[in-house]
Amino acid sequence: MADPKKLYIRTYGCQMNVYDSERMAEAMGGAGYVETGDAAEADMILLNTCHIREKAAEKVYSELGRLRGLKAANPDLKIGVAGCVAQAEGEEIMRRQPLVDLVVGPQSYHRLPQMEARVRAGEKALDTDFPLDDKFDTLRMRPKAKRGPTAFLTVQEGCDKFCAFCVVPYTRGAEASRPAARVLEEARDLVERGVREITLLGQNVNAYHGEGEGGDWSLARLIRALADIDGLERIRFTTSHPNDMTDDLIAAHGDCAKLMPYLHLPVQSGSDRILKRMNRKHTAEDYIRLIERIRAARPDILISGDFITGFPEETEADFQATLDLIEAVEYGQAFSFKYSTRPGTPAAERRQVDEDVKAERLHRLQALITAQQRAVQDAMVGRTVGVLFEKPGRLPGQMVGKSDYLHAVHVSDAGLDVGDLARVEIVESGANSLAGRVVG
Ligand code: SAH
Ligand code: SF4
Ligand code: F3S
Repeated sequence: MADPKKLYIRTYGCQMNVYDSERMAEAMGGAGYVETGDAAEADMILLNTCHIREKAAEKVYSELGRLRGLKAANPDLKIGVAGCVAQAEGEEIMRRQPLVDLVVGPQSYHRLPQMEARVRAGEKALDTDFPLDDKFDTLRMRPKAKRGPTAFLTVQEGCDKFCAFCVVPYTRGAEASRPAARVLEEARDLVERGVREITLLGQNVNAYHGEGEGGDWSLARLIRALADIDGLERIRFTTSHPNDMTDDLIAAHGDCAKLMPYLHLPVQSGSDRILKRMNRKHTAEDYIRLIERIRAARPDILISGDFITGFPEETEADFQATLDLIEAVEYGQAFSFKYSTRPGTPAAERRQVDEDVKAERLHRLQALITAQQRAVQDAMVGRTVGVLFEKPGRLPGQMVGKSDYLHAVHVSDAGLDVGDLARVEIVESGANSLAGRVVG
């Protein structure tokens, strides 16, 4: 038998792309490929791309430029572009960068093996359809290889919300949920392979409404069914939209022990005027009241968010309202970005804020968030939390894991293994992580 061909995948963007890259590797496994971490020895290179901000999209072209040398050294090397840039730009990618052999959108990658065969025969292959068949269905059988203690599992895809700044509804298509039975089957399979924590993924994961026994299931119902799986110890989900935080999901945060006390709930801005122009369909007050209800159900929950500075027409007063909201919420984690104009989205046509104003506001916002994050992290000292250990640390005998609240924690007790879940007393708060000692 011939040696297996080698596939190198480089992943950009969100966790959904991380999950998709795993599934693409599995699909290509069926076509005789094994994964490699070294692009120089690859027979095929796939860039799984992100289109969310201009910088992310442009990175793809600079990376493709760098691959020119590898292609010159190995004329049989095939180069593919997958993910959201593939969906948004399609054929244009091959025009701009002729060394690209294959372009596959995020909803079509189960067709990769057929596309690979065409590319091997010297053709170019392009597929950016939104097919009606379920790509996950075709990909159902994952190899039974042992894997690390944490995994992503996509349960919902696409978005119908059309925030005025965002490309996702165009790159990922309309909102769709996977049937509950399929999700449960995949979760059981992951647990059999050593997974103890699953993060359910979706562009709007709390809008989940998958077909299930007795009618459509909500995300809360799905989480409760997952919690019944023996050996699955922790459940998380991301990303949520405030308008889809239903009462049953809030209640699950209070009474489902396996659902971790961490919630990523982006708000983007604290100004009602800007929220309206963003088409977010809620006010700052709605969001703050919602956080209060969630904290009433689970007082220790760590709240995380996303913010955009310099959205078109944002004034200093609008920005101040965002800082006020951040003060009111007290975030344990947040991701913040300068507004990036995305072609084809409604906000791209509006009066833009100067780049230096966007940058200056981002700087101030990040200073506030950093102080809050640090305060929340420091307040963990003296508490005992669950930690799932994921890898050895830098020092001998050290292990690193994530707390229930998703803080990185390192422990120097010998005798811990990857995959162990232990009670850890936090003794110190460092720059980016906590230090602790096992207490049980
Ligand atoms: N579905 C999620 C987020 C998807 S994108 C939600 O609704 O919140 C992740 C984050 O990227 C967004 O929350 C937003 O803060 C940021 N983002 C999206 N489009 C952007 C743009 N055009 N410019 C800057 N940031 C953007
Ligand atoms: Fe984008 Fe808004 Fe949909 Fe989130 S909810 S993916 S920000 S359109
Ligand atoms: Fe980027 Fe697509 Fe995810 S645009 S953030 S990779 S959904």
